[in-house]
Amino acid sequence: MPIQSTSKIWHNGTLIPWENANIHVMSHVIHYGSSVFEGIRCYAQPQGSAVFRLPEHMQRLIDSAKIYRMELPFTLDELCAAVVEVIEANGVAPCYIRPIALRGYGEMGVSPKGSPIEVYIANFPWGKYIAGHGGADVCVSSWNRLAPNTMPALAKAGANYMNSQLIRMEAEINGYQEGIALDVNGLVSEGSGENIFVVRNGVIYTPPLSNSALSGITRDSVLTIARHLGIPVVEQAMPRELLYIADEAFFTGTAAEVHSIRSVDRIQIADGLVGPVTKQISEEFMGIAHGLRPDRFGWLTHVNVNSSQPVPA
Ligand SMILES: Cc1ncc(COP(=O)(O)O)c(C=O)c1O
Repeated sequence: MPIQSTSKIWHNGTLIPWENANIHVMSHVIHYGSSVFEGIRCYAQPQGSAVFRLPEHMQRLIDSAKIYRMELPFTLDELCAAVVEVIEANGVAPCYIRPIALRGYGEMGVSPKGSPIEVYIANFPWGKYIAGHGGADVCVSSWNRLAPNTMPALAKAGANYMNSQLIRMEAEINGYQEGIALDVNGLVSEGSGENIFVVRNGVIYTPPLSNSALSGITRDSVLTIARHLGIPVVEQAMPRELLYIADEAFFTGTAAEVHSIRSVDRIQIADGLVGPVTKQISEEFMGIAHGLRPDRFGWLTHVNVNSSQPVPA
C-alpha cells in the first residue's frame, strides 16, 4: 500500500516537514546499506493511544547501532521522547513508527569514517501487513537466512532486508503470502519479517536466536504471555518437517502482529483454521495493545492523541 504522508518527521532532535526529510544519493547508506531501524506500532485505546513496548524497540535500535559501531548521539530516554513528540505533533494514531539511523553524506568508500550519523523518526497510518482474517498460506524459501558471523542477525539493519526481499519476492511470485527461511544448517529460522512459532501437543515451540532469527519484541511478548497463561514454551531448534505436522503455527511481528499460518508448502496445518492456542495468545496480545486487558507487563507508553479508529471489540 502507498505510504500515507504525515506532517512532520523528527530529524536529529527537531521536527522538519515530511517533504524535507531527504538524503543525498551519494550518502553512505545508499551505496553500502548502512542503516539500522525499528518498526513500532501505536494502538488505539479507549482513551487516547499507546505505543507498544517503546523502550524495548528503542533499546534494540541502540543495540543494532552498537553492533555496527554507529554512535547514536541520543540516549534511550531521548529517543523514546522523540517518538512521543512526533506522534503528538502529527496527531496521527493508530500508526506505525519508523525510527532509522543511517550513515549520511560525507566521504565515499566502504569505511564509514567521515559519514555523519543521521537519525530520523517518522510515523504514518499502516494497516495489516499480512492480508486476510484466516491463516496465511506460506512456503519454505529456497533462500537461507543469514549465516552466523556474516551479517549479524541480532542487528535490525537495512542490509539484512536484501535477504528478506529475496524470501518475500520468491514467496509472492509462487502464490504464497510469505516465506519461511531456514538457517544455513537447514533448521527453521524465521519469516522474511516475522518470527515463527508452532504448537504441538499443547507445547509452544520457537527457534532460539542462534538459528539466525531476529530478537523479536513480539516474540518476547508472546513468550511472556504464554508463560503467564501457563502454556509450556520451548525455544529449540526446529526441523523443517515440524512445520508440516504442527497442530498450529503462527508468525509474530510488529507489522504482522500474531498471524496464524494455514498451510506450509501447500500442506495444511491441522484443520486449516486458527487454532485455540494461537487465538488465546492473539486475544491477550491485542487486548493489552488496545487497553482492553490490564497492562500487566508495563508495555504501553500513552500518547496524547485521540485515535482515528475505534478500539476493535
Ligand atoms: C526478520 C524479522 N524477524 C522478526 C521480526 C519481528 O520482530 P518484532 O516483533 O520486534 O517486530 C521482524 C520485524 O521486525 C523481522 O523483520
